[in-house]
Amino acid sequence: MPLPDGFLWGASTSAHQTEGGNTNSDWWVMEHGSTGTGHIKEPSGDACDSYHRWREDMDLLAGLGFTDYRFSIEWARIEPAPGEFSRAALDHYRRMVDGARERGLRPMLTLHHFSTPAWFSWGAAESAELFARYVAAAAPVYADGVEHVCTINEPNMIATMAGLIQLLTTGAAMPEAGLPEPDPAVSQTLIDAHRRAVEAVKAHAPHVRTGWTVANQVYQPLPGAEHVAAAYSHPREDLFLQAAADDDWLGVQSYTRTRIGPDGPLPVPPDAERTLTGWEYYPAALGHALRHTAAVVPGVPLIVTENGIATADDTRRVAYTGAALAGMAEAMADGVDVRGYFHWSALDNYEWGTYAPTFGLIHVDRETFARTPKPSAAWLGAIGRTRALPYQP
Ligand code: BGC
Repeated sequence: MPLPDGFLWGASTSAHQTEGGNTNSDWWVMEHGSTGTGHIKEPSGDACDSYHRWREDMDLLAGLGFTDYRFSIEWARIEPAPGEFSRAALDHYRRMVDGARERGLRPMLTLHHFSTPAWFSWGAAESAELFARYVAAAAPVYADGVEHVCTINEPNMIATMAGLIQLLTTGAAMPEAGLPEPDPAVSQTLIDAHRRAVEAVKAHAPHVRTGWTVANQVYQPLPGAEHVAAAYSHPREDLFLQAAADDDWLGVQSYTRTRIGPDGPLPVPPDAERTLTGWEYYPAALGHALRHTAAVVPGVPLIVTENGIATADDTRRVAYTGAALAGMAEAMADGVDVRGYFHWSALDNYEWGTYAPTFGLIHVDRETFARTPKPSAAWLGAIGRTRALPYQP
């Protein structure tokens, strides 16, 4: 199936997971202190040293055939103290935008990918306003040469993290399966922050197409549990999809599914194949995620901003991604308006507490930072050159 004209074909990374030395961030503090949620096994340290090696990353992606690159800029570097903006950090990210374009990669810029400056909290009253102030200050990075800006990556997971921290601090019981309930106040703040950020971007760069990216869990009800799945999904997912109804595009991020029984989420079946994150190997998730998103917000163009698998066996990555793309092609053939695909991730990187789950198309040596593309990288990048998916729905 030929890719539609202008279809984005890329890979994704985020700043904290790849740059290294993100010492002003809340995550760095959590990695080195006692405020964590107990899931931090190792600190991010130098990560992939992409703060210095971004040119090499981009050379590899462009050489492999990709035409697009999604990366994030780090608020903690740009605004290390409230109201104090680093010209050097802004210049750094501006060079990355220019560097991507020079190599034939269209940059998709994420303004916030989980990490914040250490001084900031989404629980504070003025947080939406503070976020919009940062977004306005970052305008020199995206004012020209950038077509797509993502305001906030996975707001539903940020709100869920806030809910999880509440459970931990109050000593309340953790759910046996599935995710904790997102903090409703943080959810609303994130929606407000997104709206203000969109206004700030459009004020400085009216041509930029703005959106945000939502973690899609593909809640699959057992027969009779449809209403349970709908109630479960609303605060964790659909609320954030609905908030994108007026956006230029919406990012779909899909990895696996969650089955829902009469009492809520069910554990992964014992005989199912699992990936290195413990998630069920379920490549059909992407097609379902696209169809669900299109049903909740019809008319909003969709971009797959993340999809991938943590595995040490690269043949499973090719199998997983191939099946996921077949699901995407079928959804498109059925009329779902998909405008691009970004694989997670370009590099083996810091997976929020550990380096063990490897999502990368490109292996990164943890001692030397040497990059080695895996066979999956050549296979997936080649689709960017042929501009055709190897499937005919
Ligand atoms: C996030 C990434 C993360 C990936 C795999 C998404 O939740 O945006 O930062 O590495 O999924 O867990």
